[in-house]
Amino acid sequence: MAPDDTTGLISLDKARILVVDDEAVITEILSDFLGMEGWELESATSGPAALEKLESTSFDLMISDLKMPLMSGLELMEKVLSKDEGVIVIIMTAFGTVETAIEAMKKGAFDYILKPFKMEEVVQIVRRAIDMKRLADENIRLKSTLSLYRLFEDLDVTISLNEVLDRVLDFAMRQVDADELSIYLQSPESGELELKRQLRAEGFSADASIDLERVSSETESGSFLISHGAEIQEFIKSNDNLPDALLSLPLIYQSKRVGVLNVLGYEGKRFTEGQRKLLSILSGRTAMSIINSQLVEELRDTVRKIILSLASALEAMDRYTAGHSDRVTHYALLIGQVLELGELDQEILQQAALMHDIGKIGCHANLNKKDELTAKEYEIFKEHPTHGKNILEPLTFLHPVIPGVHLHHERWDGKGYPVGLSGNEIPLMARILAVADSYDAMTSNRAYRKALAHKVAMEELKRCAGTQFDPAIVAAFREAIENHRKEALRRKDSIPP
Ligand SMILES: [Fe+2]
Repeated sequence: MAPDDTTGLISLDKARILVVDDEAVITEILSDFLGMEGWELESATSGPAALEKLESTSFDLMISDLKMPLMSGLELMEKVLSKDEGVIVIIMTAFGTVETAIEAMKKGAFDYILKPFKMEEVVQIVRRAIDMKRLADENIRLKSTLSLYRLFEDLDVTISLNEVLDRVLDFAMRQVDADELSIYLQSPESGELELKRQLRAEGFSADASIDLERVSSETESGSFLISHGAEIQEFIKSNDNLPDALLSLPLIYQSKRVGVLNVLGYEGKRFTEGQRKLLSILSGRTAMSIINSQLVEELRDTVRKIILSLASALEAMDRYTAGHSDRVTHYALLIGQVLELGELDQEILQQAALMHDIGKIGCHANLNKKDELTAKEYEIFKEHPTHGKNILEPLTFLHPVIPGVHLHHERWDGKGYPVGLSGNEIPLMARILAVADSYDAMTSNRAYRKALAHKVAMEELKRCAGTQFDPAIVAAFREAIENHRKEALRRKDSIPP
């Protein structure tokens, strides 16, 4: 191709044309006349010679004779288009073979020229062809830009690293029709590139081993690597099944390489300058999304640690309910599985369960005494969900867990506390926690009473479904605990609880 430096599109003046005819006089005439129009011309006197030229050079347009001794123009056209369907082919033919020329057009030729030809007619056909190619390229470019824009919008709201990498690879695969793609990220510890994600085209099985050291040193400074044909051997370790095209793009964020995107093509594929530019833009945005998702992951990790610290502080204070938060979390997650909650909702549920009683820290009363609480102490105890909410409110990143912490003592019939919500007004997370919390309270020893048996506790949940608890959650818990017990039996594990 001969793309314009700024737009990536071919211009009418810079098109590169290959003329193929076994009669040297024809190639000479065409080269001279078309060359005068400002186009770059090369010629070949046979199909195989033309293919050899195409190995090392890209052309926008090929004018080929139909009848040639070594390879017919039709065969040559098919081979050329199978490698690069963007090449425009114009067939030349004598009057007697017009039928074959029409056949060639059905198979992808743009037009045909009848011999003997008038040069003005040839120039006109070539101009029309290049103009059409420019418009087609522009159309493709607009479509690519639109897809890229949509991908960027997706990446803005994608926080999981693996999801970011999958989306980027999927996009690159569709845009450049690659056979194999991989993303390597720089390990923060060793600084080495490590394979993070790989994608192969459907039905594609070849496995080229990239010379990572070479690719790494070529892209370290921020420059890209593009290699076609025989020179590709330098960058591939295996000798058999060599790819024909390799494009390696550094993923740069704030002038620092965070990884490399590798794109491989087989069976004569070549990557164009337009594709390289498109993937370069993609690489820059990918690097930013990778850094963002890593920061989010670090923050999440910190949140997990803070939650575990708060939960253990609570356990240390409330010695009669040791292990309660962990067990409530376990039951809540089992219910979440039956309800098929998403990954993120399960994580929020887990955090809320671990901290559901965090507000007890703010209760100024001895809630660990041996006897049952007095009426006054019970009133103080009932303040713990609100204390929990107040403790968490200044921590923005913990806001998603507040509904669970604040409302886990609400009742389905509206007689709960602290707000008195009823039915579906109570957030799902809080309805789940209410069931998990009550089941564990019933099946655990308390200072003032012995633990109830599993069956008795389940009966109690059933009895209170529709008054204290959401019946759907009680049913989900029953299903969850049955599944879990069956699974534990299958694994000959201990039966919980
Ligand atoms: Fe509670």
